[in-house]
Amino acid sequence: MSVVIVVGAQWGDEGKGKVVDLFTERAQVVVRYGGGANAGHTLVIDGKKLVTHLVPSGVCHPGTSCVLGDGMVIDPHTLLEEIAECQERGLLMRNELLIGLGAHVILPYHKLLDGLREDYSAKQGRAIGTTRRGIGPAYEAKAGRRGVRMRDLYKPERLRALVAANIDELSPVFAHLGGTVPTGDDVARWVADALTAGERLRPHTGDAGRHVANAIAKGQHVLFEGAQGCLLDLDHGTYPYVTSSSTIAAGACQSAGIGPTQIDAVVGITKAYATRVGEGPFPTELFGAEGDKLRIAGGEFGATTGRPRRCGWLDLPALRMGVRLSGMQSLALTKLDVLAGMPEVRVCVAYKLDGKELDEPPTDPEDIARAEPVYTSLPGWAKLPAHAHDVTDLPTAARAYVETIERMAGVPFCLVSVGPDRSETIRLTDPFA
Ligand code: GDP
Ligand code: IMO
Ligand code: MG
Repeated sequence: MSVVIVVGAQWGDEGKGKVVDLFTERAQVVVRYGGGANAGHTLVIDGKKLVTHLVPSGVCHPGTSCVLGDGMVIDPHTLLEEIAECQERGLLMRNELLIGLGAHVILPYHKLLDGLREDYSAKQGRAIGTTRRGIGPAYEAKAGRRGVRMRDLYKPERLRALVAANIDELSPVFAHLGGTVPTGDDVARWVADALTAGERLRPHTGDAGRHVANAIAKGQHVLFEGAQGCLLDLDHGTYPYVTSSSTIAAGACQSAGIGPTQIDAVVGITKAYATRVGEGPFPTELFGAEGDKLRIAGGEFGATTGRPRRCGWLDLPALRMGVRLSGMQSLALTKLDVLAGMPEVRVCVAYKLDGKELDEPPTDPEDIARAEPVYTSLPGWAKLPAHAHDVTDLPTAARAYVETIERMAGVPFCLVSVGPDRSETIRLTDPFA
């Protein structure tokens, strides 16, 4: 296996960062393929924490090429801050970073618009609960063929004309949403800032598609890193409560400009329970003290916005859908340790809707919200041993939980994570083997 895609199997925050860091040990190239700074991945290595938003989570392996694919939407200022933070830690010192010139740029007006839309929709009770990082507006501009791309940062006249035309068109929208209409001075400042940031990023930009294709042609190990999760996919997730990009495995090919025939393996990441940030149906959600207990045990607060994550029991119908959408051949199970100390652990094995039992979520979000989870209950376990490196190190009940999930999800586990640190991992199979 030389080309592997890693994707979140749920609603994001599954622990992709930790797993991508581990798998990058065996990769020469790691490619982030979608979304932008809406993502937040926490890596813990020897007790030290690093949070990535745009830079691939393989960044802690010096010498590994870190690519930001053309399918991304990049906030240049956030990226510069992140590069600086990495460099302070001695990372990205060997020119590892490559930013696709075709990637779209997030400018201040995308973020303003994202926030204004959220506030306006909230008053009507229909907010999405976005991260307000400008993701939706930037992808809208892309689909509307008026977006700003990384390559435009090196053509000042083109950039000025593009931004001015966008603001001209968006001004009535700003006014309608109750925002301040941007002025000519705002446009001039935004363009000047973008040009300055562009210059600083210039040494890291290039033809990401060719770079990845060449690496694959040479037989190098290439790891594609998904952001968000399959159920947040624009086409196949719980629309409209989704992000604006393709989060499923197919998005990797789209973003990098490579054919699906090049992909050797797809690995999904799932937590041992479920979380969701923002609005949208979540049938297994736990409320009150039960939800709080899981949130606190799992440290379930957003790495990007700090928002408390909604928490609930593992949802197998949703997981099966993720497995299907991305063609996952194996799964990494994370945060098993968080369930320790629960007298019983519940798992949703099916949904009941209008008298019928469903093994995957219905397609309409209103139906998902109406669906009743059918649970099975498994015995809990007191705690996990300090160092578990093999499933045989796990207490019998934890092992039974892992085996039950594996059987019911229908794909084998390649890894079980029992703590946030790189070292707190039970490795079962190597995705590059
Ligand atoms: P991502 O967006 O999928 O990369 O996930 P996040 O980093 O946003 O959220 C996962 C959180 O769980 C991070 O704080 C990780 O450090 C942490 N984490 C990952 N795996 C484990 C695990 O097995 N156990 C525990 N307790 N925490 C974990
Ligand atoms: P990682 O990569 C969890 C959610 C937001 C919101 C919806 C749309 O860390 O797993 P957006 O800002 O993208 O327009 O918001 O998608 N969302 C995430 N939830 N993890 C993420 O990324 C997310 N990225 C977006 O909370 O519900
Ligand atoms: Mg996250």
